[in-house]
Amino acid sequence: MNILGISDGRINSGACILQDDQLKHCVSEERLTRKKQQGVFPRRSVETVLRETKMSYGDVDAIVFGGILTPNILVRSFRFLTGASMGNYKHPGLKDILLEVLEHRLGITSVKPHSIPGKVQKRLLPYLLRKDLAPQLWGKEICLVDHHHAHAASAFYTSGLRKALCITCDGMGDGVFLTVNLAEGTSIKRIHEIDCQHSLGEYYTLVTSYLGFRPHLHESKVTGLAAYGTTQKVDTPFPFHITSKIWSYNGSFGRAGLKQLSQAYNGYRGKDIAAWLQHHTERSLVRLVRHWVRKTGVRNIVLSGGVFANVKLNQRIHEIQGVEHLYVFPQMDDAGLAAGAALAYRQPDTCRLKNVFLGPKYDNIQIRQELETGGLQYEKHGNIDREVARILAQGHVIARFNGRMEYGPRALGNRSILYRANDPSVNDWLNRRLGRTEFMPFAPAVLSSDASKCFTGVAGAEEAARFMTITLNCTKWMKTHCSGVVHVDGTARPQLVRKQENPSFHRLITEYKQLTGLPCVINTSFNMHGEPIVCAPSDAICTFDVAGLDYLAIGDFLVKRKT
Ligand SMILES: [Fe+2]
Repeated sequence: MNILGISDGRINSGACILQDDQLKHCVSEERLTRKKQQGVFPRRSVETVLRETKMSYGDVDAIVFGGILTPNILVRSFRFLTGASMGNYKHPGLKDILLEVLEHRLGITSVKPHSIPGKVQKRLLPYLLRKDLAPQLWGKEICLVDHHHAHAASAFYTSGLRKALCITCDGMGDGVFLTVNLAEGTSIKRIHEIDCQHSLGEYYTLVTSYLGFRPHLHESKVTGLAAYGTTQKVDTPFPFHITSKIWSYNGSFGRAGLKQLSQAYNGYRGKDIAAWLQHHTERSLVRLVRHWVRKTGVRNIVLSGGVFANVKLNQRIHEIQGVEHLYVFPQMDDAGLAAGAALAYRQPDTCRLKNVFLGPKYDNIQIRQELETGGLQYEKHGNIDREVARILAQGHVIARFNGRMEYGPRALGNRSILYRANDPSVNDWLNRRLGRTEFMPFAPAVLSSDASKCFTGVAGAEEAARFMTITLNCTKWMKTHCSGVVHVDGTARPQLVRKQENPSFHRLITEYKQLTGLPCVINTSFNMHGEPIVCAPSDAICTFDVAGLDYLAIGDFLVKRKT
């Protein structure tokens, strides 16, 4: 059975093919349009996943969308009625407009954010969605899966666990910001949810905006900045009232929310506000997870939703007493709803995600053609990984483009910039070269067999650390020998590399270790600031040139920067 999964959110859309129980191909629209976090109908993603899996439109058995009351679908469809545009989107006002349109202008009554009536789900929305699909797909079955249920499915069905407590948390989706689910076998049952009016995710985004960063994009900068500040220096009550039974936000969002923040934070330094926000975010969600671990007795935790891009928070959840295993779906933001929706529809037996190399790939013929077109001089190598290791050991920066692109926000070796991890000044000069301002240091890719030499508290976090979705405390050895990747709070955000997941990247680091004695290298995403990670060879060549990197290893070819 071939299922086409689609994420059609207002931020970060994408598509996937689930063939029987296996994710065959997944891609986010931003990688193809080259517009960061693009939220349009993912037309190019749909074309790409079908082409790359060699499927025709006729091979698709069902089309499944992640999200029911997805603003994008309705805004696109009802713009003529509401006068609303994406530029006017304000939470939660637009939701009210859309509900009003459904209830009063279209005569569909009893519409509640959590319970969209069957005829809307089964008839109206599929009708609207069909207009965006290729005509050859119009006759196919179309289903919609609740936003948070799709997040939950993405985490549970790829976790490899038979039973888990599944937590989803984001800004908002289908009227909800957080859900707690009990997942067992093939079933996922929601046992708790919190309305989006009390969204901690939206509040984190609001503060991100207040601190001068781009909302929905730079929240991780706030997480990194927090390590430099002092929580106690902000003498302001956290605007959430949280007990085991109550979760309530006492403030506003949007412009009114920003006004409240400017009054509450007046006179405080940005880094202290970031520390205060991160502290309360961790505390609140740890409290909630601890409560549900105790109540259900389930000790395996699986997470998805944009809030769990917060690697520091994930470390705190892993450290909760009683938690045995933690797994975070690597494409935790809304682009991952494509995979989540397809998995929710299929309800497969849970199976472990083998790797995230689920995107497009390019062979040596295509790569050579692009190199020729770009007028670059190159050498072909029989063992490119050994050559890259040798160049790294000499102290050069090298971009690596190899095999299939990663699914999710992290580059895990196939679209990465690599450098030695023992240069403490690297964060200043390499970030400057890439046009980035980051507060968290570059992340290390570490041989999995050396994990305990580099980190403490690895047990139970191995699955999260495979995909760079958690921070871990560094050992004294790591702090001494790989200082370039250790944050001021003594943590790092590792990728534990196993041979079976990416044999060539594993071989590269192994060769590097033989040359230097160090089992890790810096692995940062191959892109300039504000751009998506490179996808095609032409993107790689362009970024290599603009960033002024020393070397580019692309397929079996090595390009040296002209001096
Ligand atoms: Fe979401």
